[in-house]
Amino acid sequence: MPCTVIAGAFWGDEGKGKIISYLALKDRLDVCVRTGSVNAAHTVWYQGKRHALHMVPAAFVYEKCRLLIGAGSNVHAAQFFKEVEETNVKNRIGVDYQASIIEEKHSTQDKTTAHLKSLGTTGWGVGPAIEERVRRTAKLAKDIPELQPYLTDVAPEVNHAIEASEKVLLEGTQGLMLSLFHGTYPYVTGRDTSASAICSEVGVGPTKVDDVLIVFKAFMTRVGTGTLPGELTKEEALKRGWFETAAGTGRERRSAPFNFELAKKAVMVNGATQAAVTKLDILYQGCKGARTYDELPREAEQFISEIEKRTGVPVLLIGTGPEALDIIDRRK
Ligand code: IMP
Ligand code: MG
Repeated sequence: MPCTVIAGAFWGDEGKGKIISYLALKDRLDVCVRTGSVNAAHTVWYQGKRHALHMVPAAFVYEKCRLLIGAGSNVHAAQFFKEVEETNVKNRIGVDYQASIIEEKHSTQDKTTAHLKSLGTTGWGVGPAIEERVRRTAKLAKDIPELQPYLTDVAPEVNHAIEASEKVLLEGTQGLMLSLFHGTYPYVTGRDTSASAICSEVGVGPTKVDDVLIVFKAFMTRVGTGTLPGELTKEEALKRGWFETAAGTGRERRSAPFNFELAKKAVMVNGATQAAVTKLDILYQGCKGARTYDELPREAEQFISEIEKRTGVPVLLIGTGPEALDIIDRRK
């Protein structure tokens, strides 16, 4: 903290929502800004309830945290209102005037364009909405009457909070391997997903960031098409307990073992200073619900050490179960 960027290392679904919800509660975050768009679902389990958030920042669980959606984001208005209601954050969420809007036609285009279908997009229409923005014909948040009560200028809000030494978190979505620039093109999303791009979407300069926290899952998953090194069969994934379905679209996720080369690349391109590893309890028995490092079985500790050694960043947070507080926190 004070200003931390959270970025995903692989193809999204690393458990960023869980890590953010933990930090919100534990560190009493002052501000959390979500980037990207509705295609990404961040799952938060809190007080026995599951939330799959496509619009509202995952830090909503801490009731004093100011929640923002950055200028570079694409807002799906109907989904935004639905989640604001579900999470009861009406009085503390803001949307940048210049965030662009995803309309129904974008989703239709996404689902009916053969080329986009072949990439296995989520179908929310994010690619077509970004195309429209680049053509400079997009509707912006300020053009939508129902969004008026929420409108704000996110960049000054966040920069003032940083100047005042408040705890600010910039919430990245998806992962580096889905980056339009650094990922597995053309099987990527429509934007850069790296830490620099997250800052850019919010309007925070690189000199204002203190930490970049890269989030790894203990194994890799991918939805949609495109390469996945070391991919397992569905049968093998089921046997290992790695089989997942997507929080947003319900599609089956493909899975593969953790890849150290990709992890190194993600650390480098994001300029990560620290890491989190989620779902360690799925990889090694005996980790579930652990809250201290000493409780971990030896093999699990060795895996964490190997990640640190090979990527060069300390693993400070380790997820050991779905709830926000199922975490081993190795920070001072
Ligand atoms: P789009 O972002 O909907 O255009 O989809 C492009 C590719 O990114 C597809 O392979 C999607 O499955 C993938 N994708 C987009 N958002 C997410 C996410 O939040 N988690 C995982 N995969 C995603
Ligand atoms: Mg997700």
